[in-house]
Amino acid sequence: MIKHLRSAADLDAGTATLILDTAAEMAALAGREVKKLPTLRGRTVVNLFYEDSTRTRISFEAAAKRLSADVINFSAKGSSVSKGESLKDTALTLQAMGADAVVIRHPASGAPHRLASWVDGSVVNAGDGTHEHPTQALLDAYTMRSRLGRIDGLNVAIVGDVLHSRVARSNVLLLTTLGAKVTLVGPPTLIPVDIAAALSPGTEPSRGGKPKENRTGVSYDLDSVLAGTDVVMMLRVQTERMQDSYFPSAREYSRRYGLDVPRMRKLPEHAIVMHPGPMNRGMEIAPEVADSSRSTIVEQVANGVSARMAVLYLLLGGKA
Ligand code: NCD
Repeated sequence: MIKHLRSAADLDAGTATLILDTAAEMAALAGREVKKLPTLRGRTVVNLFYEDSTRTRISFEAAAKRLSADVINFSAKGSSVSKGESLKDTALTLQAMGADAVVIRHPASGAPHRLASWVDGSVVNAGDGTHEHPTQALLDAYTMRSRLGRIDGLNVAIVGDVLHSRVARSNVLLLTTLGAKVTLVGPPTLIPVDIAAALSPGTEPSRGGKPKENRTGVSYDLDSVLAGTDVVMMLRVQTERMQDSYFPSAREYSRRYGLDVPRMRKLPEHAIVMHPGPMNRGMEIAPEVADSSRSTIVEQVANGVSARMAVLYLLLGGKA
């Protein structure tokens, strides 16, 4: 088993599948009256959050508590970080307290990598800047597998603000490792150039070309990809990360890239609609779509706890 989970690229297909299988066993626990396992009794998990979070922070806390770990929640606000303390000094403090695992969310891409060089415990990336969010990718993969029965061979469209999305990046890495085909969909200004450049011309599904070896495609036309899609994952438009204007107006964005009811009808019968949250209802996703039976948004939150339990359990030395 790997020691840290800093990137979805840390996971090969075997390890990722082991985590998903373990998450399924953890999920069985959620239905029980007593939701706790004694597995991590006496171990300390620190949640180190330098950025706002609702779902992810609560999810990691619930996961660690269900495994009976001692949980320390640290948020930058109200700590010595606001007095200018560096990540390194904070890390050394955690080290002195004997943290067995540190779950970190940080605005700087790469912060979990630095942290892993300063502490002895396992480091789990809970979102670093615009870089990665591997446990989100795991809970998303888990949700796809539980709804559709497999990941291998699925066509997944990830739609919207791909450029600023750590969720998209981790999902591309994990889903392609597990055999899915991913199409990134959005305005050209919000699709990273490196991905577009890596693809040879003709790999765009919207132009009728079929990707060959490459499992990641790009399209700027949402309407043209929906009919061939098993999973459509909508991303939040992350205005807090935008220094420039990337599209003419919210209305224009929504008209071209928002998932509304008429667009949802273009999806195959079995297809599911995902969103990592938080949503901008009415912008990238219509409220009727978010609340429809195709939507897995609430399920994703529940699955997040199981997936994170599996990660903590396996990283801290548990067996499947
Ligand atoms: C995402 C994040 O923080 O990266 N949310 C999450 O973890 N559930 C996506 C987002 O903020 O839009």
